Amino acid sequence: METNGNEKVPGKSKQHQRKRKDQRRGEEKVVDAKEEVKAVEVQQQGAGEMEPQGTSEDVLNNMRGLVEQLKVGSKYLMRTPKTPEEANQRSFKFWSTQPVPKLDETISTNEPIDAARDVAAIRQDPYSLPDGFKWDTLVIDEKDVLQELYTLLNENYVEDEDAMFRFDYQPDFLRWALQPPGWRTEWHVGVRVVKSGRLVGFISAIPGQVRIYDKVETVVEINFLCVHKKLRAKRVAPVLIREITRRVNLTGIFQAVYTAGVVLPKPVSTCRYWHRSLNPRKLIEVNFSHLTRNMTMQRTVKLYKLPETTKTPGFRKLTPRDIPEAHKLLDAYLKKFNLTPVFTEEEFRHWITPREGIVDSFVVVNDAGVVTDLVSYYTLPSTVMHHAAHKYVKAAYSFYNVSTVTPWPQLIQDALISAKTLNFDVFNALDLMENHKFLQELKFGIGDGNLQYYLYNWRCPSMKPEDIGLILL
Ligand SMILES: CC(C)(COP(=O)(O)OP(=O)(O)OC[C@H]1O[C@@H](n2cnc3c(N)ncnc32)[C@H](O)[C@@H]1OP(=O)(O)O)[C@@H](O)C(=O)NCCC(=O)NCCS
Repeated sequence: METNGNEKVPGKSKQHQRKRKDQRRGEEKVVDAKEEVKAVEVQQQGAGEMEPQGTSEDVLNNMRGLVEQLKVGSKYLMRTPKTPEEANQRSFKFWSTQPVPKLDETISTNEPIDAARDVAAIRQDPYSLPDGFKWDTLVIDEKDVLQELYTLLNENYVEDEDAMFRFDYQPDFLRWALQPPGWRTEWHVGVRVVKSGRLVGFISAIPGQVRIYDKVETVVEINFLCVHKKLRAKRVAPVLIREITRRVNLTGIFQAVYTAGVVLPKPVSTCRYWHRSLNPRKLIEVNFSHLTRNMTMQRTVKLYKLPETTKTPGFRKLTPRDIPEAHKLLDAYLKKFNLTPVFTEEEFRHWITPREGIVDSFVVVNDAGVVTDLVSYYTLPSTVMHHAAHKYVKAAYSFYNVSTVTPWPQLIQDALISAKTLNFDVFNALDLMENHKFLQELKFGIGDGNLQYYLYNWRCPSMKPEDIGLILL
């Protein structure tokens, strides 16, 4: 059987399925209509950039009626683009004001766009939210607050194109992702409804160093940008982005790295997810993948069957004692790539030490006790939105891997076997680093959406997926 190119990425890599096309067209129309509502509002207010205007939940409810009326006949103003072609036909009201390269810019230098500013000159006050909303820095050490963040994301975060799957980052995962060494509470930025206190928006930053070609820079990684479904298309996202930028700038950091499924000015690289079925029956039942021509369920199950036990002598779970050596191994290995993290040993320990249900890591140790190879993957389930029997898909995402002795296909096959033992349904990997050395051989199927990599306030020549050595959660 050929690996099929129509499998679902539960999340950032958006998917397209023909049978859903009509429905999707309908959804796009709704978004268009909302844009029109905004356009009308802005015209009336004579505003230029669409700074958020006074809204509350009541106003939003009224607007939904208006949106319904506008569904028919709305033709202009596109949704956030998914492809370079779509992006080229569109102006970016917000992003054109930001220090990011233009989409058509060809770049030969590797440098900041705007020079670092004097921290004393950074705006001290938070940006204004629409009336009825307020900022709230989230203290996620508090169980209730963490639960609120979990619920916001569980109900409103990234979905696939056909609204069948939605990322389900677990509470403990969120703490791991948001509290690495050097994390700051004020970079966990929430938006609440004043009246009800309900959490309706979020954005986060975590600190780190990255190497971009030959330059090592202190940056933040931006993640978990989310606006409640009822508050969409109201220009709240630009305010969240401006506010996190301000809070980060106040600490003397002026660069950021982030990924998205959408095309914005300007990707530094475009990567693609591939998927390795571990539990093909379930994946087919939930429409994540489908039976390809001439394949029965029985033959498909057989095709993806894996050995019960790992093959590589010395393959075992990483322990705290392996950290210094495994850290050096990864550090040396990442020199091959043009965009990589630069982990301190403490950061490496945070990201790679196994945590049940969050991150799994393994090393290969030779007869002399030397760590020669490393594999790791993180756990990110997706909610299956409309299925009677299956409520979630349990997915493993390839994280940082190094092979110096064990051949890539053998090393990753052992990772697949470990993931199968841990009851994962699918193993996902991007086409970055040296992953092309195992994807096809190990029966990964290509997904059909892209994950775009971005740098904020940095210009550099664009990179091929195999030049990227950085994984964001
Ligand atoms: C992404 C999200 C926060 C955008 O909010 P929204 O209400 O749809 O859009 P808004 O009206 O507030 O803002 C629109 C602006 O945000 C930009 N934008 C949209 N998605 C973006 C993203 N993922 N990253 C950065 N900017 C984004 C748009 O391009 C537009 O700017 P432009 O005028 O320069 O083109 C919201 O759709 C959401 O929560 N989606 C689900 C979760 C998600 O996809 N998060 C992003 C993960 S990368």
